[in-house]
Amino acid sequence: MAERFFLTTAIDYVNGSPHLGHAYEKTLADALARYQRLCGRSVFFLTGVDEHGQKVQQSARALGLDPQDFCDRQSGLFRALWDRLDISFDQFARTTEPRHKEAVQSCLCRLQEKELLRFEEHEGFYSLRQEQFVTEKERVDGRWPEIFGEVVPMREPNYFFLLSRFGEQIRREIESRPDWIVPEFRRNELLAALRRPLQELCISRPRSRLAWGIPLPFDERYVTYVWFDALLNYVSFAREGEGGTWWPADLQIIGKDILVPAHGVYWPAILAALGLPLPRRLLVHGWWLNRGAKMSKSTGNAIDPLPYLDRFGSEALRYFLLREMTLGNDADFSDEKLLQRYQSDLANDLGNFAHRSLSMIARYRGGRVPGWIDSEAGQSERELASAFDEEAYRVAFDQGDTGTGLAVAWAFIGRANRYVDQAAPWKVARAPASEKRLDLILAILAETLRRIAILIEPALPRSSRKLLTELGVSEPPLLSRAVFAPPRESYSAGAPEPLFPRVEG
Ligand code: ME8
Ligand code: MG
Repeated sequence: MAERFFLTTAIDYVNGSPHLGHAYEKTLADALARYQRLCGRSVFFLTGVDEHGQKVQQSARALGLDPQDFCDRQSGLFRALWDRLDISFDQFARTTEPRHKEAVQSCLCRLQEKELLRFEEHEGFYSLRQEQFVTEKERVDGRWPEIFGEVVPMREPNYFFLLSRFGEQIRREIESRPDWIVPEFRRNELLAALRRPLQELCISRPRSRLAWGIPLPFDERYVTYVWFDALLNYVSFAREGEGGTWWPADLQIIGKDILVPAHGVYWPAILAALGLPLPRRLLVHGWWLNRGAKMSKSTGNAIDPLPYLDRFGSEALRYFLLREMTLGNDADFSDEKLLQRYQSDLANDLGNFAHRSLSMIARYRGGRVPGWIDSEAGQSERELASAFDEEAYRVAFDQGDTGTGLAVAWAFIGRANRYVDQAAPWKVARAPASEKRLDLILAILAETLRRIAILIEPALPRSSRKLLTELGVSEPPLLSRAVFAPPRESYSAGAPEPLFPRVEG
């Protein structure tokens, strides 16, 4: 049986429309899911949307819509975008689905039975934007930081999850797993947070204040806290067959804003309380910025991916996001950089190599790729055959570092283009008695293109499929097939079609 790989993304709030930051995270997850499939693993890729909470209730109300209708409409926008971006998820989580509500309620009952919940009155300040109680310590120069939005004094009885009981256990577990968080500096940030005393976590909201949530099974006057509900999607949508589950996840992908405390403290504590294992690894990405500022719904500077999809196509946007972001850092989005990557990496490097190779095979051999004869190969053919650094490619993708992984693939593409320039098949074609030499060049070009088509699959699934079809390859792409293994018999290739037509600057 194939090795299994389960990966998840954050589930996006539906109170706004999807923006480029959301598109990046889902594209990153998709590339890594595709990479795992390329390695022959059986993959379960879970993504979805977060549909409860005050902000959703408010946004629905502002439009005069029933919250469920609003969620249906908003979720549709996310799904439509993921379709256009070729996000190959296996399961789409919507937290308003009955199966999720039941799972959350059963988890709450288990915590109640284990006496891990306490009902008590709490007096303090509440951030409407973050939907959480905040403490005096969080004030900066006497004022509440911008991220909390409006903060109001509040006094009410609520249910608290006894989070503090798990702090020590989680800290020790994370300390014992040096590569639990990628990149590493985020792990230090989390460990620092876990060394401070933890406060109990308020997990209920009175229905009088928030109607749009999952009711507590043992107290109908309350609904659950939006984070408690949302985090549990990772297990409620991971069920498989009769009583089986994909949990624990091999990889959970989140943005840096939801590591501390949500995924680094609350989530491990909830799992520990339920007797479930921690995920195997957390990948924490940075933000896409719009002229230096984080794009978000609340600040109104969010970049809409749709116009870019219309202008450049999904492959180019995917490639740009995966290549341009240094894992874990922030990156500034700009039209100029996208256009630059499109022209240099896609149109020139990849597009050009594919087009040159296929059109020469069409022109000189009527579309038949000559069989490979080992004894004819010279130094330059041998160099090209071994120019792909598979080890570096694997290490990068295993780490979730798509920028480096793609740089390794593009180094190979660059090498292939240099080979064409040096071998100059158009000159060989005019030289006398050079049939065998031309056969050899065309055979290695086809074989190199076939290997490249496999290597680009995680980032450029459509181009990969197109190239493999044009080369007459019908087997599904696997990394193990990206080794140099040219057929000894000649075979037919299809007609070349341009992959990345010129776009205006
Ligand atoms: O936090 N660049 O939802 P969300 C890169 N519902 N990534 C970004 C980004 C940007 N500019 N802006 C947001 C939530 N993201 C919760 C998650 S998970 C159980 C619940 C990322 O819609 C962000 O870091 O605010 C997060 O990982 C994801 O988009 C959803 O953000
Ligand atoms: Mg957010």
